[in-house]
Amino acid sequence: MARLKRTLNLFDATALAIGAIIGAGIFVISGVAAGLAGPAVILAIMLAGTVASFTAFSYAKLASRHPQEGGSYVFAKREVSHFAGFMTGWIWLFANVVAGATVSLGLASYVVALFHQLPLVPVAISSILLLTLLNVVGIKQSSIFNAVLVLLKLCALALFVIVGFSHINLALYGHFAPDGIKGILGATALIFFAYTGFGTPAAAAGEIKDPRHNVPRSITLALVLSSVVYVLVGVVAVGIIPYQKLADSGSPLTDVVDYGIKAYWLKLFVSFAAIVATVSVLLTTIIGVSRVSYAMGKDGVLPRLFGKTHKKFSTPYLGIIVIGVTMAVLPMFGDLRQTANVTNFGSLSAYGMVNLSAILMIKKGRMRGAKHLAHVVIPVLGLGSCILLLCFLSIYSWIIGVSWTAAGLLYYYIIPRHFKEKA
Ligand code: ALA
Repeated sequence: MARLKRTLNLFDATALAIGAIIGAGIFVISGVAAGLAGPAVILAIMLAGTVASFTAFSYAKLASRHPQEGGSYVFAKREVSHFAGFMTGWIWLFANVVAGATVSLGLASYVVALFHQLPLVPVAISSILLLTLLNVVGIKQSSIFNAVLVLLKLCALALFVIVGFSHINLALYGHFAPDGIKGILGATALIFFAYTGFGTPAAAAGEIKDPRHNVPRSITLALVLSSVVYVLVGVVAVGIIPYQKLADSGSPLTDVVDYGIKAYWLKLFVSFAAIVATVSVLLTTIIGVSRVSYAMGKDGVLPRLFGKTHKKFSTPYLGIIVIGVTMAVLPMFGDLRQTANVTNFGSLSAYGMVNLSAILMIKKGRMRGAKHLAHVVIPVLGLGSCILLLCFLSIYSWIIGVSWTAAGLLYYYIIPRHFKEKA
């Protein structure tokens, strides 16, 4: 069977992570978060970024120890237990399949805002299917396309910030946190969606050159850059438009332009960038999900078809197709706010396990410089903050997330015994 090929360098890996991070979170969900926290959504963005960076630290440490495809699944399997690995992978896959569906809805809402005659759900479904096809053809092709998309979305957000700064009305920051700490933490739990995806290089480490160094570096670079961009976008957005107007908007950033900047060309560019950003998140999410399911399929803890690669394209094509089709069904049932909550439930649970894996790795003393206090404290803070944010997610997300976890338990215990023994 063909193997995955190491074709991605540091630039590609960083673009992969930024591709997976910046999308529907900042372009769509930031509006809902501003409705919860008021102008203090800026603090929520910073807090969510801090939680993400604790976990990213654990990712970076674990990735340099386990430089192979599979990400959180492999970390938990190696550092905690076989069962913990399966459950982490199971929940991570779920979080990312739902994330893909959420992002496709965000993409479709910006497309429909530009072309009113198009129907929302079919646009979302077609976008997933198209990007699934691109993924089948090859990761290098996907990654070149992704790099172009990443540059475009960064340029558009930079322009939004630069033009927006001179239109800020300081009075709008006045009633800074209308719902106090509760509103801020609720918004933090929701806007955390905007940061998910930073672990994608770890999931695709099997195709990254010199993964021991390039995976941790790409995760760090991507997260720092995205956090800076998000905070600046947040400062500009709530400084231009009253936060109440953002709460129910499907396209908050274009509303900001409409309300305070009134530049049609910028509105068009931001809409275009939102589409570009969500396309790149979708593309890289499918890459990440299919590589984790590939590792699980190879181990036999998921059906073996997930672990098969295409002779010519060297991609896990069957897994990509199954994942793409599953993702494409979900927009028919989705409300973007609820699916974002469900994604966060899965991501925060899986990230909690990543932090636990890092803590155990340090305890086993298998990490260079393990005595350094930060190496112990940061994963502990990561685990604690993931648990804290889980408490602020909707009941709906808990019901769906716990049901999926229970389904995983059931699946794990009914897999034929020989599957587990081969793992
Ligand atoms: N972080 C990704 C986004 O915001 C999932 O679209």
